[in-house]
Amino acid sequence: MKIALLGGTGPEGLGLAARFLAAGETVAIGSRTLGRAEEAAGKLRALVPAGRVTAATNADAAAASEVIAVSVPFAGLDATLAACGAALEGKVILDLVVPLRVEGGIFLLEEVVEGSAAERIQARVPGARVVSGLKHQSAADLLEIGTELEGDVLLCGDDAGAKEIVSKLVRDVPKLRPIDAGGLRIARHLDAVTALLLNLNKRHKARSSVRLVGI
Ligand SMILES: NC(=O)c1ccc[n+]([C@@H]2O[C@H](COP(=O)([O-])OP(=O)(O)OC[C@H]3O[C@@H](n4cnc5c(N)ncnc54)[C@H](OP(=O)(O)O)[C@@H]3O)[C@@H](O)[C@H]2O)c1
Repeated sequence: MKIALLGGTGPEGLGLAARFLAAGETVAIGSRTLGRAEEAAGKLRALVPAGRVTAATNADAAAASEVIAVSVPFAGLDATLAACGAALEGKVILDLVVPLRVEGGIFLLEEVVEGSAAERIQARVPGARVVSGLKHQSAADLLEIGTELEGDVLLCGDDAGAKEIVSKLVRDVPKLRPIDAGGLRIARHLDAVTALLLNLNKRHKARSSVRLVGI
């Protein structure tokens, strides 16, 4: 499976790329500038020496991949989708974007007209197979490649096949358990849980994640 990480130069994209590479997947790091993508790919080669990683612009990474993970700030989402254009049509798009703002030291969700970042992606790229999730693993944890992750990975999407493809990627990472959390209309709740975790992390100086009981 070839996976593009748009905005893969940031901590979240880098961390997820490292875990996918360690699981044997092929990763294309995307950036607005090729030089930054190459720099990030170099960091990943140092982290996962056997990993198959290439560097490209976001548009070229998307065109060359079957699964496209979007890992840019919400403010850069529309521009990133526009830059990739037709390369996104029909592809599985994994939405990692959390529309956040900080007010008075508290993490709050930005209001998104479509309801969530995932629904915004689906509205802008109607032919894409959007899945939202993997938002509750912190970049810091992902980047500590020698440390096992743990927890449940909640996934939302309207395309069952796309959700299964992402679930398989999650299962490739030891100890992570994918859970189907419903359709894209529920994705806003995933975003809200991320905001909750960030506030918990700040209060308790922790790195929290999610594990469900009873399911
Ligand atoms: N950090 C975490 O622990 C975490 C956890 C869960 C979810 N997330 C979500 O994952 C996404 C990425 O997080 P991050 O911490 O890696 O973010 P980040 O470092 O702020 O940004 C990631 C990359 O996005 C690109 N970018 C920045 N501003 C942009 C803009 N205006 N337009 C287009 N591209 C832009 C940059 O890449 P180039 O300059 O190379 O193009 C940057 O390296 C965010 O939506 C965040 O909410 C983060």
